[in-house]
Amino acid sequence: MKTYQTNGAFAENYKFLISSIIPRPIAVISSRNVDGSNNLAPFSFFTAVSAQPMIIAFCPMLRSSDGQFKDTVKNILREREFVVNFCTEDNYVKVNLASTELPYGEDEYTFSGLTPMESQLVKAKRMKESPVQFECVFRDMICYGKTPGSGSLITGEVKLVHVDDSVMQDGKISTELLKAVGRGAGNDWFKTDSRFQMERLTKAQIQK
Ligand SMILES: Cc1cc2nc3c(=O)[nH]c(=O)nc-3n(C[C@H](O)[C@H](O)[C@H](O)COP(=O)(O)O)c2cc1C
Repeated sequence: MKTYQTNGAFAENYKFLISSIIPRPIAVISSRNVDGSNNLAPFSFFTAVSAQPMIIAFCPMLRSSDGQFKDTVKNILREREFVVNFCTEDNYVKVNLASTELPYGEDEYTFSGLTPMESQLVKAKRMKESPVQFECVFRDMICYGKTPGSGSLITGEVKLVHVDDSVMQDGKISTELLKAVGRGAGNDWFKTDSRFQMERLTKAQIQK
């Protein structure tokens, strides 16, 4: 086994992160530009944080090209709201296109062929092609550095959850129907069609 220091180039650390923390779910974050147009970008450094209040987190890094905040961050800090959409087998090609770093103000919905639809509570649009959508209000941001590749943690409180009937089964979102897609190392992506079931044992069952 080899041991590595993490005080070198960000690219080295980044490779350890993206090849070890797999598969990663993908949040497709929709936000509103200063002129009212739309911004859309995928983020796989993404997780659930709290059920009540319902909080999610994602982690945008400073742009590797110029060390500036990504457009999503600029928008969320100003508008204080955003929508989390989900990447699935039916939309991943377009979601990948939405990750293109377009000049600020250029609409990634238009560029990728995805469809914006009005939200109920926030001004940022929902992504029609996402069968689950979370309308979120910005909660906190922690920044971990000022150089290209430095990450930050952004949390949002989910105020409304929209779920398309097509992915519901027995009153719940079905993993099989949702067909979520995740991210791995490099250009690896994952489907969620290889699953197994295992019951979580209670303390009493373990002690028997
Ligand atoms: C599947 C996928 C996941 C990504 N995850 C992240 C991430 O977690 N953090 C990040 O900073 N960039 C991530 N990116 C890159 C951003 O999507 C990209 O920088 C995008 O242009 C940012 O858009 P914006 O400037 O409109 O916010 C990811 C790209 C792809 C394709």
